[in-house]
Amino acid sequence: MTFAKASCSPLHLRWCLLSSMTTDGTPLRFPPFAGIPLAPVPKGALTMLTTIPGLMDAVRARFAHVDSCPFTGPRVFFENAGGALTLKSAVETSGIYAAIPDNQGRDNPASKALMAAIDKAKADMRLFFNAPTGQVFVGESGTEVLFRLVRTAALGAAPGGILLSTTLEHPASRSAMARWAEVTGRRHVLVPHDDATGCVDAAAYLPFITPDVRVATIVHTSPVTGMAVDVGAIAASIRKLSPDCFIIVDGIQHASHGAVDISALAIDGYAISPYKVFSRHGYGVGWASDRLTACTKETVIGGPATNWEMGTRDTGSYATFSDVVDYLVWLGSNFTKSDDRRARLESAAKAIHGHEHALADAMVNGTGNLRGLAAIPGLHIIGGADNARREGVVSVWLEGKPSETVVSFLNDRGIRTHTRKADHYSGNVLTPLGLKDCVRVSFSHYNSLAEVAQFLTAMNEFTSAP
Ligand SMILES: Cc1ncc(COP(=O)(O)O)c(C=O)c1O
Repeated sequence: MTFAKASCSPLHLRWCLLSSMTTDGTPLRFPPFAGIPLAPVPKGALTMLTTIPGLMDAVRARFAHVDSCPFTGPRVFFENAGGALTLKSAVETSGIYAAIPDNQGRDNPASKALMAAIDKAKADMRLFFNAPTGQVFVGESGTEVLFRLVRTAALGAAPGGILLSTTLEHPASRSAMARWAEVTGRRHVLVPHDDATGCVDAAAYLPFITPDVRVATIVHTSPVTGMAVDVGAIAASIRKLSPDCFIIVDGIQHASHGAVDISALAIDGYAISPYKVFSRHGYGVGWASDRLTACTKETVIGGPATNWEMGTRDTGSYATFSDVVDYLVWLGSNFTKSDDRRARLESAAKAIHGHEHALADAMVNGTGNLRGLAAIPGLHIIGGADNARREGVVSVWLEGKPSETVVSFLNDRGIRTHTRKADHYSGNVLTPLGLKDCVRVSFSHYNSLAEVAQFLTAMNEFTSAP
């Protein structure tokens, strides 16, 4: 198949690729990565991407700055919860769209190309979320999208009642709920999370669920403990007693670690930050149910009633999200014979989960003859050493050692981690544990066992030093 006519401009060719169309309008199929055979995934194994020859190198080759920081040189990147590596395709796409002067909604080919890119990105967002209904949109950031979803829900819900969050949540959703509880004259109730597991489950929500819960927030995965929450079970429990409750989910930490399946969840809003899912900074992505979309929201008078966008959005942000979906579809194509894009996305999510699970296992229990974190005297793992809910984060603290000194020691050895302090971002998790700080080690599917070994070598050196 030819992708483009010889006379096609580079931009048009790029647009055709981004739009999954050939220049003569026929749908384009992204071929599986050349040289990598489709292989069945062994059931129940801690499947790593390395089980498919060449795949790990092919994955790493798709990301910018995978093993070297432009400011400090070679380094292992274990700061993924702060922001994942960026796909090279997203970097390229950003440049292409940043240079286009045309605006959307005009009768010229450039404008039509921009709108086609947005339409494709919206279809890709729906695929990513598995959300055939409702609306997808971009906003200023994940936090801004969460605030907007919560604000619309709090103002659109029946009067009275309460707003329900948990102490596990990032301040983005907790603050939005506190603010709009105050503005609308409602009580903001916080379900306490479990300090031991670093998580919160449906049973913890139960005593707080009453028919008058008007808006509830759920964090899909904690960015401090790394533990994933059973959103489906919690949403179902809320719906049972308060069927009209608006349920908003913060999926910002979860989105790069596992599939999102909104059609399986009885929820009304979902927010992610694309720079944490292999795209770039500068925008957030949201999904809102039809009934939340039907509530009164800030919009230009006379504009489409379903519109969540505020003014002219950056086409490049939309297009870079398509890059993310294309990448995941490609990754998944290595693990399934299906050519259905959603099936490939789900296969990618499973492969990512298996790989990260193996990395976490190596970090905690050791690899080769290297002692794992669980065996280091005086080192404590938040949420417990063996916790099946873990997604891409191992947070630790060491008796008598400020976390900054550990992070700085690791930095000197070319390993980037991060100190979480008991401030307004992480105090909700750390203060109840009596901690002032912790070291957050966060990884992704492009990280390797060799990088874990490098980290463990440094940790063992640090803790063996007199
Ligand atoms: C779970 C969660 N929610 C919200 C946020 C805020 O995201 P942003 O700063 O991208 O708006 C973060 C950022 O770390 C997060 O991890």
